[in-house]
Amino acid sequence: MNIVNLKINNNLISTINIYNSHNSNQYSDIISSYSSVFIFTQKSCSMDLDFSNNNNNFIKTFILKDRESCKSIDQLREIFDFLILNKCNKDSLIIGFGGGTVLDTVGFVASVYMRGISHVFFPTTLLSMVDAAIGGKTAINYNNIRNLIGSINHPKHIIIILDYLKSLPKEELLNGFAEIIKYALILDENLFNELEENIQDLYPQLDINKLEHIIIQCIKHKVHVVSKDEYDYGLRRILNFGHTVGHAIESCSNYNISHGLAVFYGMKVATHISLELNKIDKDSYNRIISLIDYFNFPK
Ligand code: GLY
Repeated sequence: MNIVNLKINNNLISTINIYNSHNSNQYSDIISSYSSVFIFTQKSCSMDLDFSNNNNNFIKTFILKDRESCKSIDQLREIFDFLILNKCNKDSLIIGFGGGTVLDTVGFVASVYMRGISHVFFPTTLLSMVDAAIGGKTAINYNNIRNLIGSINHPKHIIIILDYLKSLPKEELLNGFAEIIKYALILDENLFNELEENIQDLYPQLDINKLEHIIIQCIKHKVHVVSKDEYDYGLRRILNFGHTVGHAIESCSNYNISHGLAVFYGMKVATHISLELNKIDKDSYNRIISLIDYFNFPK
């Protein structure tokens, strides 16, 4: 097991535990201190948390709408009705089990229901492990505007189980690798070298030991950036590298082009601009483009 802590001004905000495989002992202590537990997930996430040891808790599961549809006012209304019906209160815990859309929704619910109740994340996608689960950004979409309504609200614990990566479809893995390459380009030349050297073992091989090392480095970068600029007024904006063009591509395609693919394109555009402006040399340009192109998406 590996642990990374997110601290802000020396206060412990979130603990991030990284395990290879699932075992109910990883969370039974956390759960036992709450009177009731509400798990939010999506059908596609195959939620397999085991609460059979936690006899004292009242545990209920809510299946959210698929993909982005869960980040809506209509879905929020259903969630609040469910929580009220089941007497969710300040002694309850909310769990988000899934990828970014689940975690965005659950984090938002946890920040506004009864003015805030505790929550824990189990990110199940590569993207959510290295990015979406960490740093407290929550959001729902409104009037077709993505992430318009949200908050910064950190989960107490983030529990990462690497085995979940093995069942992800290719497109979902690409979403994660786009963010991993982003960290390398904005913050860490050694990480870039490591990706170049090991890329075939990482993808499509999914060598979990090598991937774990990469994931932990990305998490540490995210934790560092968030600890310096929790509310996104300065340094945190560096995490948007490749996303300006990426978001435009996603939006113009009516979100038929995945986030990862759009960010790959966005990073290529940013790399071209950097070369044009003499911010990088031709050799760096070639290395960046060839690492991105390794993922072999339509050019
Ligand atoms: N995903 C970018 C951020 O958390 O700021």
